[in-house]
Amino acid sequence: MRRMPQPIPYQGSKRNIARQILAFFPGGVETLIEPFAGSAAVSVAAAYSQKAKNFYLNDLNKPLMDLLEIIINHPRQIADEYEKLWQAQLGQERTYYDFIRDEFNKTHRPDYFLYLLARCVKASARYNSSGDFNQSPDNRRRGRRPESMRQEILAVSRLLRGKTTIARDNYTEVLNLLSESDLVYLDPPYQGTSQNRDSRYLSGLNSDELINFLDTLNKRQASFILSYDGRTGEKRHGIELPTSLNLYWLEIHAGRSSQSTLLGGKDETYESLYLSPALTRRLEATHDNISKMAYAGKLRRGAPPKQLELGIV
Ligand SMILES: C[S@@+](CC[C@H](N)C(=O)[O-])C[C@H]1O[C@@H](n2cnc3c(N)ncnc32)[C@H](O)[C@@H]1O
Repeated sequence: MRRMPQPIPYQGSKRNIARQILAFFPGGVETLIEPFAGSAAVSVAAAYSQKAKNFYLNDLNKPLMDLLEIIINHPRQIADEYEKLWQAQLGQERTYYDFIRDEFNKTHRPDYFLYLLARCVKASARYNSSGDFNQSPDNRRRGRRPESMRQEILAVSRLLRGKTTIARDNYTEVLNLLSESDLVYLDPPYQGTSQNRDSRYLSGLNSDELINFLDTLNKRQASFILSYDGRTGEKRHGIELPTSLNLYWLEIHAGRSSQSTLLGGKDETYESLYLSPALTRRLEATHDNISKMAYAGKLRRGAPPKQLELGIV
């Protein structure tokens, strides 16, 4: 698979493991619903691989969804606007960044947001308690060059235009549109760090509410894939999900941890993936069995929360 286009630099993007996540898509997905869409890396990959016909992208971060919408529907306009900002910064990169950050906090303009994400430290948005973007610039970089940004923007637009709905609601709202042929991919903010306000996101997330929501999805027989937690070496991050949800748990090998590499260690990172019972049934109806798929997708399978001792593939 060719490298996925990704015009929105977004820390936490699932672009690097999108291919492994797609391995668990059933056939015949009418609409892929992402309640926590972020930069929509999984939808972009699914559109590229023709794994879903339509896309419903929701995120509570309104400026982010405004940016995604303009990228999809008015790609040339946003590419031109980004180029203007990028050129205007030359020779005064630091002061220009601060100026655009102030302007963004007043106006929430999508072009300002794209420029800030392209220039800020580790592409990681940070917000203060008033909801203002307060991340510093990475002074070693000027941000992706305009021509390359234009190519990414046009590629994403080609993939998603005419088949995508954008929403800016709380994730629970997607319950109103679910149907049996849909697939929901959920990538909530990492649990354990976001019980209260998390400076990475505009809002926090309550884990009990999320678990109730997953339970409701199960009662509605919804097919869903959840990214929830992970581990570095033997150290687990995030809180456990209740076994009553009956989810099938897999781990995706996400590579060497950058933190560990910095410290001279060799810790590998693994990201958990949970499949809903309805999805597992749907997959088993068309494939030999999930463990074979896991193997084919280079996945490492751990013991699922329902305490079945499945061992490691
Ligand atoms: C881990 S990121 C998703 C990253 C995404 N999978 C990607 O590839 O870019 C989680 C997203 O959830 C959003 N979010 C946080 N709380 C939310 C809520 N209550 N409802 C909807 N979205 C929310 C955040 O704004 C953030 O963009």
